[in-house]
This record gives sequence, structure tokens and C-alpha cells, in this order.
Amino acid sequence: MQPKKQIHIEVHFTPDHLDEMQLKDKNIVVIDVLRACTTITTALEHGAKEIIPVSTIENAVKISGNLFGDVTLRGGERNGKMIEGFNLGNSPLEYSEEVVKGKSIILITTNGSVAIVRGKHAKHLIVAAFVNISAVVRFLNELGSDFMIICAGKENHFCIEDAVCAGRIINKLGRSGSTEFILDDGAVAAAALDKSFGKSIVRMLKSSEHGKYLASIGFGSDLAVCAQVDAMETLPMLSGNVIRTWKKSMS
Ligand code: MLT
Repeated sequence: MQPKKQIHIEVHFTPDHLDEMQLKDKNIVVIDVLRACTTITTALEHGAKEIIPVSTIENAVKISGNLFGDVTLRGGERNGKMIEGFNLGNSPLEYSEEVVKGKSIILITTNGSVAIVRGKHAKHLIVAAFVNISAVVRFLNELGSDFMIICAGKENHFCIEDAVCAGRIINKLGRSGSTEFILDDGAVAAAALDKSFGKSIVRMLKSSEHGKYLASIGFGSDLAVCAQVDAMETLPMLSGNVIRTWKKSMS
């Protein structure tokens, strides 16, 4: 009998203990359900040319330079709200086709964009949320290699919505007789959390700490958008410093 192929899956519930070198040449999935990864996926789904994630406001301003406001938009948040002088906040509802089609968007968010930037030397880095979860799982099934899931969390604290999304990815992976998934303890816990808290995603988001905070500052309607499982086919992938929609020809 042929030995089974083993695929190792690690889940990190926060990114701060990981540095760029630990992520180099790895296959990485970054999750920030509320809201950066949902927003990135929405922007690309609606025809944005690319998203350039940055980790400081200064970099966002520097990179957008003279092109600001024309073909380049600045988006992002501090404490969930739009940053002064920017075109867009971090609500997926703002990233309509009318606004983003053909544009490059420099994005700075408190946790999501920072986690993505940290993985800039990864072999593959894909952006995941509930809205594109089947596209993510399809990619990982085709990849057939070890991968790490990094939850953006909130200021280095655990966020249930990212953990449940990580667990859902693991629970949806194609099981075949010839592959054995080796889960670390984080991956085992995430898979269990999906089974207990993932029955109603919208209810889980509404009762999460960050969901309650977003509702309290007027972004309650974002929760229903972020809960729409498989509303989009787009798979955002970081290449160099830029996130674009992944196409088979890119691998
Ligand atoms: C982040 O990156 O911290 C989030 O996406 C915050 C938010 O909800 O805007």
C-alpha cells in the first residue's frame, strides 16, 4: 500500500509572535473577517486593479504620492473609522464597483494589513474571509502542501470570528484516502470552534467583541456582509508588495 501524503496545518490565533523570516517561503492564509480581508476580497471582486497593503499611515501617504485621488485611492481605518485625508474607510460596503473599478488602493488597517505585510516573503499568501471561503479551500486542495493560517486578531488578542473561519477552512478541505492532514493544536481547536460557533455566522459575528464594537460605532450593517459565506469567487493573493486576484496562470 502507498504511504499517505501528509499535509501539516498550523493555526496561529494572533500574528505578533511571527516574524518575516519565519514566514519566508511558507504557504500562508491570512484571515481578518472583520473586516480587512472581507474588504480586500470585495474590492478585487468589484474590479479594483490591486490592493497595496501597508503597515503605517506614513507609508500609505508616501506610496500614494502624486497619483493620490486619480488612479490611486487610500483606504483603511484607525479604531474602525476612516483616517483623515483618506478616500475610503474599511467597510466593505464602501468598496463598490463604481468607486474602485480600475483603481489601485493603498490599504492600512490596524491588524489585517499589518499581518499581510509580515508575510511578504511567503511562497504563497492568500487572503481569506467567509465571503470567499470556497475559493480559498479550492486553492489549498489544489496546492496539496503544508500551510499556515494566521488570524489577524485584534491588537494581538484572539478573535473568535477569525478562529471560526480558520476552522471552517480546515473542516472543508477535501478528504481523500490518499492524504492525511496533520493538525497542530491551534488547528484542532479552530476546527472544534467552527463546529460549535459556526452554525450561524451572522449570530457569531454579532456576539463577537469586535462585531459589537463595530455596531456601536455605526457599522452594524457590515456584519451581515462579512457573514455572507461564498458570496464571492475572488481569491486575493499577495505577490511582492501587491495583492491581486489570483489566476491559475500566476502559480
Ligand atoms: C483591522 O485590520 O484591524 C480591522 O479590519 C479593523 C476593522 O474592523 O476595520
